[in-house]
Amino acid sequence: MKLPQAQVAVLNAASADEEQTTERIAEEIDMDPAAVTRAAFELEDEGLVEIVERTSNEVELTEEAETYLDERLPELRLYEAAVSIGADDESVQLGQVIGEAGLEGEAVDIALSNYARKGYGTIDSGEIEANPDADPDDDGEAAALDAIDEGNVAYQSDLALEDLEKRGLVDRSATTVRSILLTDEGVTALMEGVEAAETVGQVTSDLITSGEWDDVEFAEYNVEADAEDLTPGKTHVLRQMSERVKDVLVGMGFQEMQGPTVDADFWINDCLFMPQDHPARNHWDRFALDNPEQIDELPEDLVDAVESAHREGVGADGEGYHSPWDLDFAKALALRGHTTSLTARHLSGEAMGELEPPKRFFSIEKAYRNDTLDATHLLEFFQIEGWVMAEDLSVRDLMGTFTEFYEQFGITDIEFKPHYNPYTEPSFELFGRHPETGEMIEIGNSGIFRPEMLEPLGVDCDVMAWGLALERLMMLVTGAEDIRDVHGTLLDIDYLRSEEAIY
Ligand code: PHE
Repeated sequence: MKLPQAQVAVLNAASADEEQTTERIAEEIDMDPAAVTRAAFELEDEGLVEIVERTSNEVELTEEAETYLDERLPELRLYEAAVSIGADDESVQLGQVIGEAGLEGEAVDIALSNYARKGYGTIDSGEIEANPDADPDDDGEAAALDAIDEGNVAYQSDLALEDLEKRGLVDRSATTVRSILLTDEGVTALMEGVEAAETVGQVTSDLITSGEWDDVEFAEYNVEADAEDLTPGKTHVLRQMSERVKDVLVGMGFQEMQGPTVDADFWINDCLFMPQDHPARNHWDRFALDNPEQIDELPEDLVDAVESAHREGVGADGEGYHSPWDLDFAKALALRGHTTSLTARHLSGEAMGELEPPKRFFSIEKAYRNDTLDATHLLEFFQIEGWVMAEDLSVRDLMGTFTEFYEQFGITDIEFKPHYNPYTEPSFELFGRHPETGEMIEIGNSGIFRPEMLEPLGVDCDVMAWGLALERLMMLVTGAEDIRDVHGTLLDIDYLRSEEAIY
């Protein structure tokens, strides 16, 4: 019988009365384990071997657990220190015991959160008591850690392992272990003699041009065979989302804008008719730049026009803010708090020269805000900025654009709420229904730019515009309930690896 090389090697290494794992065979014949598995499946198809599959539960200590092997669990250290100070007799100051135990940083929290749970005593209003009947030498979790370290996982109860897993002290994983056994046909084949057939695994141009392809035997593919898990680099899920949004907007006829991440307040705020004493412009809310502190140059005519709009308003009966306007304040550099600075640069002609209507522009870039971190806020986010310049735009155009945009992501349940921006009138906040919680969450802000903004920039037709949050769109699409599940360093690595590209 003729078989491909790999199958012959595996067949020869297999035994009829003793199961052997594919791992062991791979080691014995010095072959890649995945190739052995593949050959084994092919041999099984031919009835020459039998494959027995078992699930093996592996348990590994985490780095944190490793440190406890020497240092011991923090709650045990706390207990021993407490007893040494007499807390088994009457309660003592918690701070004193922590000091005595030499616990610092995170270890303190860990000790405190496990101490009472495991019956070592009670902690109340800064005082600690130790249970005289507790025995730290009989600690189940400590014993389990030692046993795992010594390779005796099998003796640990599932419950103990579960507790350790909850505390992040062990990682558990299940893998499939395959063993092979020769069948009667396999034994017969070996007795009759098995030869290695030259098989070709890949069609090459040489094979085709030489005509040799007609004579060779091609290896068969087993598409069901298990393959090794590969985790190569891939595009981040949020980046994928950003690219999808880009495609959608380009499909809707928008052109991409580019511009600086650090910009002068002039472009970020003054051009948007944001008064210089607006609360969002105080130093708490900006990430100001220290070096350099100011932009070198601003277009003089534009500065004059913007200053005059702020002071006196625009038009015959215009009203400005009549508040101070300071050029140095306008020149100050900061991380942009929104990407509407790019819109200002484009509308003013600064970015690519005068623009004639109709025009549609967008950007998907980072904006920075000094927000309080929570489930829907980070200090930075990706803003989907967009605007349409045309004669005679109305709120219907704005709403229609959002309806069309969000529909492409399967989001049809959006709501508009009247809002206020110094630079738009009317203004609308956008809300979308979260697929998991059912709540309406804010997904963007929009409006039609007011003359006080457009006139100084030299635009004499209508412009409707918006800033949407990419992360919020992502939350609606994926059902993620916390922005930190889609942006930032806390993302689950398995999620990053296995999240399907949805399109
Ligand atoms: N700059 C606004 C924000 O960051 C978004 C916006 C842009 C609103 C353009 C209206 C017009 O919330």
